Amino acid sequence: MTLEIRKHGRVGAEILGVDLAKGLTADEFAATQAAFAEHGVIFFRDQAIDENQHIAFAKQWGEININRFFAAHPHYPQIALVVKEPEQQHNIGGGWHTDHSYDTEPALGSILVARELPPQGGATAFASMYAAYDALPVTLKERIEGRHAVHSARHVFGSKGAAYQAVQDNRADGRIGNSAAADVLDDPVHPVVITHPLSGKRALYVNPSFTVSIQGLSEEASKDLLLELYAHAIKPEFQEDFHWHPGSIAFWDNRATWHYAYNDYHGHRREMHRITIEGGPLQ
Ligand code: SIN
Repeated sequence: MTLEIRKHGRVGAEILGVDLAKGLTADEFAATQAAFAEHGVIFFRDQAIDENQHIAFAKQWGEININRFFAAHPHYPQIALVVKEPEQQHNIGGGWHTDHSYDTEPALGSILVARELPPQGGATAFASMYAAYDALPVTLKERIEGRHAVHSARHVFGSKGAAYQAVQDNRADGRIGNSAAADVLDDPVHPVVITHPLSGKRALYVNPSFTVSIQGLSEEASKDLLLELYAHAIKPEFQEDFHWHPGSIAFWDNRATWHYAYNDYHGHRREMHRITIEGGPLQ
């Protein structure tokens, strides 16, 4: 097999010619890492990996972050379960976000493996924050240059948070269950525009789910500026959907993309296994 990298429409790249069950050779890893840094999300098809192979692949990229809020796989605590049952209305990740921006050292990325898919629907959309930043009007670039934003998980996963409440209302016990951990989190501050640690490219680093304000602005000015940035970042030209099939894997970079899980398959089950990899401080 020869590794091939094929662009995935406007966002991401598909990596062909590798067998993740066998692990990546040093050369394959280097090429895959370069594609990951360049495109912000990479996709694999027709992979048959079990939980141990999922964990082994993740460890090639860094230390595993054990998710504090999602239900864990019963036998593999490193794997977070992203599940929607047929009777549930709410899904996990059903709004534009980047994972873990609420951490002082945000996660590098997440590797999502499809385990059970609905007959149709259940795609994931990705938006490139490299492309969104590049296309910002110069005046808007000037307004955000050097600014920092506050991020938080409390309003989402905390006991008064939207995700936690939605799950409780829907009696989806065990999906997002650790509101106490979210309630006591400190809210970190990150640059609004980061220089990506692998690619050196600049990326917009605020997101509608976890960014709560921009420092140094009034509440109203901060909200207006964030809404202006979000309206720009969700333009279709920066987005691409990924349609899952058995054996599909997506590995996104939290520092370069947003993602959004479509919730268009009510009455069917969808189970995904997610491993998140630790990142580092952002500049
Ligand atoms: C997530 O936001 O981590 C889940 C994405 C998905 O289920 O497609």
